[in-house]
Amino acid sequence: MNIIFVCLGNICRSPIAEGVFRQKLKERKLKGNVSSAGTMHWHQGKPPHSSSQQICKNNGVDISHQRSQLFQAEMFQDFDWIIAMDELNKVDLLLLCQNEIDRNKIILFSDVIPNYQPLDVPDPYYGDFSDYELVYKIINELCQAFIEKYFIQ
Ligand code: 4NP
Repeated sequence: MNIIFVCLGNICRSPIAEGVFRQKLKERKLKGNVSSAGTMHWHQGKPPHSSSQQICKNNGVDISHQRSQLFQAEMFQDFDWIIAMDELNKVDLLLLCQNEIDRNKIILFSDVIPNYQPLDVPDPYYGDFSDYELVYKIINELCQAFIEKYFIQ
């Protein structure tokens, strides 16, 4: 199963999701190709935000090797699941779709748990470290639920 997490800049939220999800697959000896990307090019080639790296490190997840990349329409073919961190990311992804097959691959991350709040994984870019702690907690819960729902039947 190929899965890509998408946020705006691919330096704060989706790199955490990529790292946490890959770690959970590894711990359970499950197979999957995990990636992340941003809908904006601003930070292309940059490593994850230092606070994203730190909160992951605090939880035993190393994301220091990751580099920001732009989500491009060709990527629809490479992934089974395209997971938007927030509604804006989802709208931006829907604009890049070329057909119904592409559209059906996109989900809002919080849709994995019925009635989950918050609906959006909040953008921590202008926040402080506690915002990254909250983002990590949300992402960890949603990654766990995704694996239980779609990987372990
Ligand atoms: P991300 O956070 O989408 O979670 O990577 C952001 C990163 C950069 C910016 C905004 C959000 N920015 O405005 O540069």
